[in-house]
Amino acid sequence: MNEKREEHRLILTEDGSHSIYVPGLNETYHSFHGAIQESGYVFIKRGLEYFAGNQDRSLIKVLEVGLGTGLNALLTAQWAEEMQKKVEMTSLEAYPVPKGLVDVLNYPGKISSKHAPGWFRKIHHSLWDEAVEIHDLFVLNKVMAKLETYPLPFQEFDVVFFDAFAPNKQAELWDLSVLDKVYQSQNYPSVFVTYCAKGQLKRDLRSLGYQVETLPGPPGKKEMVRAIKPGEIESKH
Ligand SMILES: C[S@@+](CC[C@H](N)C(=O)[O-])C[C@H]1O[C@@H](n2cnc3c(N)ncnc32)[C@H](O)[C@@H]1O
Repeated sequence: MNEKREEHRLILTEDGSHSIYVPGLNETYHSFHGAIQESGYVFIKRGLEYFAGNQDRSLIKVLEVGLGTGLNALLTAQWAEEMQKKVEMTSLEAYPVPKGLVDVLNYPGKISSKHAPGWFRKIHHSLWDEAVEIHDLFVLNKVMAKLETYPLPFQEFDVVFFDAFAPNKQAELWDLSVLDKVYQSQNYPSVFVTYCAKGQLKRDLRSLGYQVETLPGPPGKKEMVRAIKPGEIESKH
């Protein structure tokens, strides 16, 4: 990826929440139709909430590919508090968002919890490569590394938020060998969610052993993918 970080630009999406535009890639961090709307639907509702609804676990371990703006981490912090569920999240990021941009993102003001500004500050100001308690029920381990080369733990994660840039912008992250590495890092049973619904991705995920579901996408997007690494998980919805 030949990304020019200094060109990152703040944009406003249709639900009033910010996102970032990267001119070097001609790509945004989230859907134009709504960053919070998309993240809340694809990763929290269809990923985390789905897993928690089907598996009775006292601790849920999440892997995120692409910490980026920290929006998924913030929404996960909120979910953990609301549901009173313990979540540990490992979030990989190869190119951290410049601090000047992080400080103006409007997500904390758009989240109902009064703790959101404090959580968001902690998410971004916490040290890399260390497990940090964002609140009593949410621990975040930010890892500054590239997914392609980072040695993921074996059979560790319950939910994967696969939030890399699109395959036509960053093909190396969607390569079968990389997806296989993610599969190996997942627990039995576990869930992989992504906003992408490309046919090639679905074929690749099936070839690795996932059970692939094409779900309706968030507003403005037709479809998304949820892939289950089977164990005894049984879909209720
Ligand atoms: C679509 S954006 C992610 C958005 C993020 N989840 C958010 O809500 O802001 C993709 C992210 O992946 C990061 N990234 C790019 N290449 C990567 C790599 N090789 N390994 C891990 N992360 C990478 C980008 O810097 C960017 O932050």
